[in-house]
Amino acid sequence: MTLKITASGATLGASVEGLDLSQPLSDETFSQILKALGKHGVLSYPGQELSAQQLRDFSQRFGRLEVNVAGAYQEPGMPEVMVLSNIVENGKPIGLSDAGQDWHTDMSYSRMIAFTNLLYGIRIPHRDGRPLGNTEFCNMHAAYRGLAEDLKQRLAGMTVLHDFNKFWEKMRQQPGCTRPPLSPAQRAAKPPVSHEIFLRHPITGELVLYCNPGYAMRINEMDEEESQETLNFLFTHQTKPEYRYAHRWTEGDLLMWDNMGTIHNAIPDYRPDEPRLIKRCQVMATRFFHDDGTRRVAA
Ligand code: SIN
Repeated sequence: MTLKITASGATLGASVEGLDLSQPLSDETFSQILKALGKHGVLSYPGQELSAQQLRDFSQRFGRLEVNVAGAYQEPGMPEVMVLSNIVENGKPIGLSDAGQDWHTDMSYSRMIAFTNLLYGIRIPHRDGRPLGNTEFCNMHAAYRGLAEDLKQRLAGMTVLHDFNKFWEKMRQQPGCTRPPLSPAQRAAKPPVSHEIFLRHPITGELVLYCNPGYAMRINEMDEEESQETLNFLFTHQTKPEYRYAHRWTEGDLLMWDNMGTIHNAIPDYRPDEPRLIKRCQVMATRFFHDDGTRRVAA
């Protein structure tokens, strides 16, 4: 089979067929995927059969893999593969049950930001013939383009402070949440960091709005009140319906997305007795940036 990339026709998303991701990729195929990821933001590869190790091997082609700071629900012997699930076995949850359940961008709170996440769908809940637990995305290339010119100019060169604890605490306020507060050691491992509010995307070369409701705390160059007003405006703007795309899961899907060009939200519309099981790898943007955040390649 040859590689076939079919755009969803919506603001984001394409499906990629003709690849068995358990096998190594040629350099040419890899380049095609990188380009498609920048262009479409979200790629799904249906019908994959992957072990945790194969998921890890495919993921690490894209950059350094992150071990989640929470340090829990890891695949045995493979801390880079995290288990997301609402399944309880012998009274114990087998995975993180509330991962990503609000709008955010992974790792925006980190000096080295995230490039892509790869999620492998093993058990997907259904009701009345419809899949549940969609993963929703918003297009940050389009959100940038959709800002008024005077606001683009006003914000150009400004920076946003991102804090891991913001999203963690938001999750802790959800009914039934079992997340403990972050320990001082976990907080110290992820101190708040600042990033430019408009990021030049390293694949497309275009500007994206790099700000998200999950982790963005304040715009450093504004006073507290103006910063809060502006962030509230941006959070509403970036999640407008015209920027949204939802991935409807099928078992065997490998879903990957670009964390610089999108924000995402996991929809918790399934019950505890409707099992969902996903394995996830998080790839950092090490192919584009040095550890201190400076760029490796000019866009
Ligand atoms: C995540 O934010 O990584 C979780 C997405 C999902 O489970 O759909």
